[in-house]
Amino acid sequence: MIKERSRGEVYQQTEEKSKKLQRELNALKEDHAEEIQKLANQVRRDIPDIEEGQNYLEAAVVAKNSEAMEGVKKNKFVCIKHHINGSPEESDFEVKTETIGWSVGSKEVIVKNLYVSVDPYQLNRMKSHCSSQAAISFATAITPGHGIDAYGVGRVVASGRAELAKDELVVGLLTWGEYSIIEEGRLLNKLDPMGLPLPAYVGALGFSGLSAYGGFFEICKPKKGESVFVSAASGSVGSLVGQYAKLFDCHVVGCAGTQQKVDLLKEKLGFDDAFNYKNESNLKSALKRYFPQGIDIYFDNVGGEMLEAAVANMNSFGRVAVCGAISEYTGNQKRAALEMLDVVYKRITIQGFLAADYVKCYAEFISTTTDHLRSSKMQAICDISHGVESVPCAFVGLFRGDNIGKKIVQIADE
Ligand SMILES: NC(=O)c1ccc[n+]([C@@H]2O[C@H](COP(=O)([O-])OP(=O)(O)OC[C@H]3O[C@@H](n4cnc5c(N)ncnc54)[C@H](OP(=O)(O)O)[C@@H]3O)[C@@H](O)[C@H]2O)c1
Repeated sequence: MIKERSRGEVYQQTEEKSKKLQRELNALKEDHAEEIQKLANQVRRDIPDIEEGQNYLEAAVVAKNSEAMEGVKKNKFVCIKHHINGSPEESDFEVKTETIGWSVGSKEVIVKNLYVSVDPYQLNRMKSHCSSQAAISFATAITPGHGIDAYGVGRVVASGRAELAKDELVVGLLTWGEYSIIEEGRLLNKLDPMGLPLPAYVGALGFSGLSAYGGFFEICKPKKGESVFVSAASGSVGSLVGQYAKLFDCHVVGCAGTQQKVDLLKEKLGFDDAFNYKNESNLKSALKRYFPQGIDIYFDNVGGEMLEAAVANMNSFGRVAVCGAISEYTGNQKRAALEMLDVVYKRITIQGFLAADYVKCYAEFISTTTDHLRSSKMQAICDISHGVESVPCAFVGLFRGDNIGKKIVQIADE
């Protein structure tokens, strides 16, 4: 059996056999059907065990896919030094170096990371305890000292999977490091960028986009002309929600934490209005000012006091899509305490969701969003830092409001 032979023997024999048979097959061509049949019979005789025959072929493909991965590589990666239970600081992180190799016979794929996503939810994974950690596989706890998985785009360096060839672009669950070792079963797909920039596949065409699309269309169930409020509106998800809502002919107001962000929303992303929530002493009356007729839809990215204020200003049968609650992640600020009588008497629907719930509308989301990006009806705003060492600063910056649009770290040149 293949496993008992040495790697060199298998590859050499496989290569020789497949080259010889290929030469013979080529020589016969289509008009020699009879001879081809004879040759096929001969192949069956030479390799009587079909399973072993398939193993030979797979080994040949894998040998080709892993040519460039001779020896071992040094991999710099980011990890947490200890659990983080409050606001994250750069000093909570360290950059480590490890040696990685590709195990022959495994189904692993080694990916050179190009762009990796930096997301607020990772903070909840870094805590010593958090209810979200047991909810879904991608939110599991992060162990201090270990690599941290993150969505991203990369290029295959070596592959134990016949369907992913060396040098191919891939998108999936990579790591905050220079390279990712992707075990069988972990999310990793071939990527055809179709002429769009690769960072778009980390944000607008990745999980941020799917959250915005699924949350807005499936949970908020918009009707044309309705009033939509979006918090963290200049961020990765918020900037997309506002644009979907505008393209759907809703009236859209967003809030953000700086004047520069507010200007972006109004001048570049087409929001009807926007305001800096940090300049408002009373959020309820601020929302009353921006929505004199009330809010029909609130797309919530922040939780806390903004959620309370939005619910207080909702119209009857309003919908609240709870995408995230970033103001509550660091544990420093007030948690939302809703006026439940508003929820009852105004019959407000409040629903949390995860991007993963909308994998069912993935194809529709990709085709719609790709069309909007191509025709410049939508913009994928990206905020890119460079180098693996910049990941801690990029991540900590999310909680200080440093980013405008999707926060991404470019790890290597395309
Ligand atoms: N449900 C899902 O599947 C899903 C998927 C992706 C993201 N999310 C959630 O959606 C939200 C947005 O994520 P994102 O990736 O688009 O991040 P983001 O908005 O691009 O970045 C975070 C932004 O949040 C704002 N912020 C930070 N601390 C805040 C605070 N204490 N109060 C109010 N705003 C604060 C900042 O903008 P300002 O300058 O405006 O304050 C910051 O720039 C997060 O809550 C995230 O966890 C959920």
